[in-house]
Formats: sequence, C-alpha cells, structure tokens
Amino acid sequence: MSIFEERESDIRAYSRLYPVVFEKARNAVISDESGKDYIDFFAGAGVLNFGHNNPAMKKAVIAHLEADGVTHSLDMETTVKRTFMERFTERVLEPRGMPHKMQFMGPTGTNAVEAAIKLARRVTGRHEIAAFQHGFHGMTLGALACTANSVFRNASGVPLQYVRHYPFGCEPVCLGCKRGCGMESLERLRAQYTDSSSGVPLPAAFIVEPIQAEGGVNVASKEWLQGLQKLAREIGALVILDDIQAGMGRTGSFFSFDGMDLDPDIVCLAKGLGGLGTPIAMNLVKPEHDKHWAPGEHTGTFRGQSLSFVAGTEVLEYFKDATMMDAVKEKSARIFEALAPLEKHPEVQVRGKGMIVGLDLGTGERVKQVALQCFAAGVLICPCGTGGRVLKLIPPLTIPDDQLEAGLKIITRAAEEAIKAA
Ligand SMILES: Cc1ncc(COP(=O)(O)O)c(C=O)c1O
Repeated sequence: MSIFEERESDIRAYSRLYPVVFEKARNAVISDESGKDYIDFFAGAGVLNFGHNNPAMKKAVIAHLEADGVTHSLDMETTVKRTFMERFTERVLEPRGMPHKMQFMGPTGTNAVEAAIKLARRVTGRHEIAAFQHGFHGMTLGALACTANSVFRNASGVPLQYVRHYPFGCEPVCLGCKRGCGMESLERLRAQYTDSSSGVPLPAAFIVEPIQAEGGVNVASKEWLQGLQKLAREIGALVILDDIQAGMGRTGSFFSFDGMDLDPDIVCLAKGLGGLGTPIAMNLVKPEHDKHWAPGEHTGTFRGQSLSFVAGTEVLEYFKDATMMDAVKEKSARIFEALAPLEKHPEVQVRGKGMIVGLDLGTGERVKQVALQCFAAGVLICPCGTGGRVLKLIPPLTIPDDQLEAGLKIITRAAEEAIKAA
C-alpha cells in the first residue's frame, strides 16, 4: 500500500482517476516516475497557462531566491510587489481604462470570491447574492454558497444561505440545461426584482463567470452579460466577474470578457495570475467600492505571495504585444476544427472560447471512459460539467503545435470509440 493510500485523506480525487506518481514537467508535458510522458490538456485547471516550469518564470524565481529576495511579507510593501503592480497597471488596467484597485487576499480563488461578496454586501447593505446555475466559485462557505454543484454544496455541513441561483445565459445553449435560458431569463429577473411584492430581496451583487469552466465550459453571450450588467445598474447591485479560470490569456485576451464592453465592479483573479504554480489571488475593485474597506478587515497570512509576484510579472510579459494572444487564437481554431467532426453525433456538443474548450459527450460515464483511454495513450485531460459529462480541454497556451495535434488525435479517437460503443 502506498503512503497515499495509507495516509492521504479519503478526499483525494484526481489521484484516483490517474493512479501514477508524477515527477517532472516541462511546458505541456508532465511525466510520471516511470518515465511515461503525458501531454497535459489539464494544465493545473487553468494555473499553468504558460506551461510547466516556464523558463522565464523559473529563471526569475531562482534569481530572486539566490539574491535573498523577500519571500514572505504579509501585505507589506516589497520591491517585487511594486514591480508586479506597476506592470499589471501598465499592461492590463491602463490599456482598458480600468481605474480598479488591486486587493490581495489569501492566495486561492475562493478567498478572492469571499472578499468580493463580502465587499458587495458592505457597499450595498444587502445580504443576498445572485449567482448562476452551473457556476463554480470555490469551497469556503461564502463562495460555496455561490457554487451550484450539489456534490460540493452537500459537504458544507450548514445551510448555505443568502445566495439564489438563476439560469445562465449560455451561447450556444448548452446540452446540459436545454432550456434556452438567455435574454428571457433576464427579463424574468427584472420583473422579479422590480416587483416590490415578489418576496425576493434585491441582491448585493451578481456573481458570474463569463465562461463557466467547472460548470461545463458554458460561454455567456456578450448580449446576456451586457443585459445582466444593465439590470444590475438598474437595481443598484454590483457586478462581480469571476475570471479565475478563464482569465490570464486563456481566451486569446487577458480577460475572458475583453471586447464585451463591460464595466465590472469587481473582477476576481487567481490561478494563472502567478504563472509558475505558486498561489496568488487578487481582486480588481473599483475605487468607490474599495474605500468601504477598513485596513486589515479582510486579511490572510499569504496575501500577495512574493514568488507569485516574481513569476506573475513574467506572465505579464506575454501581454506586451499581440504575439502570444495571436498564437492562442490560431491554436484555438485548430482545436475547434479537430473536434468539429464529433458534432455529427447528435448527443455531442463542442463549445468554448480560445483555448478553453468543452467536449460535451452527454454522459459522465462516456467522458470517464474517454479520459481513461486518453490517459493510457499519454494525454492528461479531466471532466467537468454536470455528472462529469464534459471533457475540458485547457492545455498550456504555450503547447507546441505537434503536441497539440498529437493530443487532439488521441482525444478525438477515444471520443469516437466511446460514442460508437454506447
Ligand atoms: C471560476 C472559479 N472560481 C473560483 C475557483 C476557486 O479557486 P480555488 O480552487 O483556487 O479556491 C475556481 C477553481 O476552480 C474557479 O474555476
């Protein structure tokens, strides 16, 4: 019996699906201790957008350590934090005319969501948060209340309160919900919130993933997101965009909502923001809302992690010109092209944006079979969506073309076989 079976908590999950011990990783390839290579179409669930052990990030982190740079500072000012913040302002905020402040908190996505909903409640003096079906926002109680999946919710041990879930306006309509929820659902929301006898209190905020990642790669339409923002403004609620998984270049632009003419009150970021796999989370908060915080009111020992600032500064280098994002668009087109023939099967749908692509195979059993076959053939890929019915393709944006092609061939072949066998 391995130490993992003997001593690691029964809560372990991915390791049950992929029972090998990983040892090394470089860009889009991760290798187990027997020396077998896997093309990584999972990339740490959106953490390793620029590959495992990205050479520039690794070099910068090693240099920082060699120079005895500060590795931990709570939220004190450091040179590396200054460089990161200056670079983020220059590369991300200023070009978009965003006046937002950067708030650092405990270094995981769920911490960012907790801080965002806490602040929205403070700003508006309201309790309720409006979240969306199939949304995923994290595991701590506030964020978990916003998360839709009952598997996670049922583990809470207490009632998850003050959050209501509404239909998500996906485009195209996801096979998972089949409801055609879209602009009509916004009209129903408007009617409810503007009727003083609806019995439903006004929300402090709408929290939404512009692209639901864990929920099955459901892409919100521009029209729906704009409609949601308009409704939020009408009823005095904040708009929180959770770009924790789909942001940082994944869709071919820094934010997944770029080009949608949105003006979010708060943007939650984490995962790929730190680049190398060290953790960090950050909220972008409009200054008029940020001023509602008192110093130290939402704290965390690891807010602003130095090594993540160092590697995260290198992440921002990829946004100095269009080269990397153009490459993402090309690779994205190739992924959609390779998966398109599978859509001849009526139960299959391909959806996504940039290099976050969902292959909905209709059932979790089929997806599991495909994932295991891919794994045996040397591709690491994971399920998402209701009952795990969607395979999520999120390889590093830096994946070389030959590995992308090889991986796509394995995935499409395994999917064809699983569909035929059904
Ligand atoms: C959109 C989104 N929000 C929040 C989270 C929670 O992040 P973390 O697991 O770092 O707490 C995730 C994690 O997958 C996510 O995808």
